[in-house]
Amino acid sequence: MVATVVTRTRAELDTARAALSSPVGAVFTMGALHEGHQALLRAAGEANASLLATIFVNPRQFGPSEDLSRYPRPFDEDLARCEKAGVDVVWAPPVTEVYRSGEPQITVEPGPLAADLEGASRPGHFAGVLTVVAKLLHLTCPDRAYFGEKDFQQLTLVRRMVADLDFGVEIVGVPTVREPDGLALSSRNAYLSAAERDRALALSAALEAAAKTAARGAGPDEIVAAGRDVLAAAGLDVDYFVLRSAGLGPVPRVGAARLLVAARVGGTRLIDNMPVSLV
Ligand code: PAF
Repeated sequence: MVATVVTRTRAELDTARAALSSPVGAVFTMGALHEGHQALLRAAGEANASLLATIFVNPRQFGPSEDLSRYPRPFDEDLARCEKAGVDVVWAPPVTEVYRSGEPQITVEPGPLAADLEGASRPGHFAGVLTVVAKLLHLTCPDRAYFGEKDFQQLTLVRRMVADLDFGVEIVGVPTVREPDGLALSSRNAYLSAAERDRALALSAALEAAAKTAARGAGPDEIVAAGRDVLAAAGLDVDYFVLRSAGLGPVPRVGAARLLVAARVGGTRLIDNMPVSLV
């Protein structure tokens, strides 16, 4: 276990960052770390000489109906997980240290993809995410930054921002971690009752059913219908179940594509996605 250096201010971060050997891998989190974050930390730790993690609950990506004050902040447990994962430096700044001039006047405009899928039910969310990710990349200066495929639209938008705005950093996507029964790990699973957790399995089952349908050469309509049937049978309140290109554009005729789903199970909105190959 390494002794993780915990920093709060930008000055403390700069000092700790300057002592790190290159390449530096970074994992940005809002805390409440689970096995999915551990997978990001593991991937970053294995491929880099140093590992940096941030723990910052970003107020600018919460909508007016989303309760920022209820967001879990188990800092001591998070720090223990970081130590176990071999994180060299944690930056856990207060809000005033990240947004030193208060409400930013200039923010990242995330483009048309941000209005779709998750963005359609969470207006402003991706502008908040990309603005803070841009700041975290500038402030921590990693060689590589690691994001989970679980939030596939976020990963796609971060990749696009880094390409379009010429950030000198490599973005690495890490596959979703699942429970043995298929449920994708998420901080939101904690809100599910035992019965709701059973019903939530329909999300991954729907993705599997659609992927199997794709593997036998079916077209996009049939693939999507196979997934929607599973969700309908489970009686879930479905927000979307769609097939897109691997970059979330229009469906290609053949090759790599992505299935994405969002549904409400009781009061909890869950998302999941899966790669699929169109043959
Ligand atoms: O995925 C998350 O936890 C957040 O959106 C991120 C990337 C840390 C930005 O606040």
